Amino acid sequence: MREISNNARNIEGQPMFKVIDKVKRLEAVGKDIVHLEIGDPDFGTPRNIIEAAKQSLDRGDTHYVSSWGLPAFVEAIQQTTHRTRGFLPATNQVLVTPSANIAIFYAVFCLTNPGQEVLVPDPGFPTYLSSVRMCGAVPVPFPLHEKNAFRMRAADIEPLITEKTRLLIINSPQNPTGAITEPQALREIYELAVKHDLYVYTDEIYARMVYDEQNFFSVSSLDHCKERVILSNGFSKAFAMTGWRLGALVMPPEVAERMMLLLQTTSSCVAPFLQHAGLAAITGDQGPVQIMMTEYAARRDILVDGLNAIPGITCHRPGGAFYAFPNISSFGLTSEEFADAMLERAGIAILPGSCFGAQGEGFARLCYATSREKISEALKRLSQACKNL
Ligand SMILES: Cc1ncc(COP(=O)(O)O)c(C=O)c1O
Repeated sequence: MREISNNARNIEGQPMFKVIDKVKRLEAVGKDIVHLEIGDPDFGTPRNIIEAAKQSLDRGDTHYVSSWGLPAFVEAIQQTTHRTRGFLPATNQVLVTPSANIAIFYAVFCLTNPGQEVLVPDPGFPTYLSSVRMCGAVPVPFPLHEKNAFRMRAADIEPLITEKTRLLIINSPQNPTGAITEPQALREIYELAVKHDLYVYTDEIYARMVYDEQNFFSVSSLDHCKERVILSNGFSKAFAMTGWRLGALVMPPEVAERMMLLLQTTSSCVAPFLQHAGLAAITGDQGPVQIMMTEYAARRDILVDGLNAIPGITCHRPGGAFYAFPNISSFGLTSEEFADAMLERAGIAILPGSCFGAQGEGFARLCYATSREKISEALKRLSQACKNL
């Protein structure tokens, strides 16, 4: 009988794209919208990165390359890991990936069997849930509590571990809350994984986006990605490279080999000129990243101060990434109703917290990767619209 597969039925996509479709429909009929919904920097990709890609194309780097990644890029990732995480991974621990998003699927596919359980942060990046379900595994959300500034805690994770648990996904700085989990709490979470013999997938795509000189800590420094830690990073956010689709993984060699074969089977390799761009990003001038971070810090303060000044809204000051996650529960609407009301009445596009899991209900995510003027305009409109809810 002609029928799509159960695998296909289990594909969910990313719930925020539903919001983006709504926004597009309103813009198509002429509505003026301030965009705070998508986590995409308003800065252009730094010039040195673009030049490196152009030069690579001009050299003729337009053919298949190794599925692991270009040796020079792999070496730069090894050296960067050494500098930022304090250990030098071996060449066969590094895999260049076509985005950090797909790396989540690779990990779940390679580390779980159908029916096994994967612990995911709630609220958390929606791809965790959808990748786990797509692989026939079972997502088990662990709560991030507002009263704990949305930081991860071993005590919130341990009661959820069962004999079926295989993988624990962690993320700091975090999407959607911007929370940074402290080094001691991350150590305890790592110890939990050791005690229960779990793999840990640490999604560190926001690692370079840390404010107030907070100490960034990576659990990868605890096992050097030799046994159980899979370290994921991506170029989209800190280098304003969302459209390039480039990421990198550091992990135990036996896992790396499997993931490389999965990448080889599905994409063959990552385009060489993209890898030259990535090489320029991590080895070149870090000035542009600093400039963007200084600007994001100023925008964060404008947005968070402005949100806290609106009666009915409270918002933690996030330590990293570029998201604010205010509590909007006092208005008595679901987060989706609140986001819809803001879009339709005030022309502000934000994401309902429920896009990020059950614990996101009562919150909204606002991305401040947009200009100060637009943030101020959004606050003005938000404040007015909240008065009339
Ligand atoms: C926590 C987290 N991980 C991974 C990604 C995926 O990044 P990309 O696929 O652009 O590399 C995102 C993007 O929003 C994210 O927030």
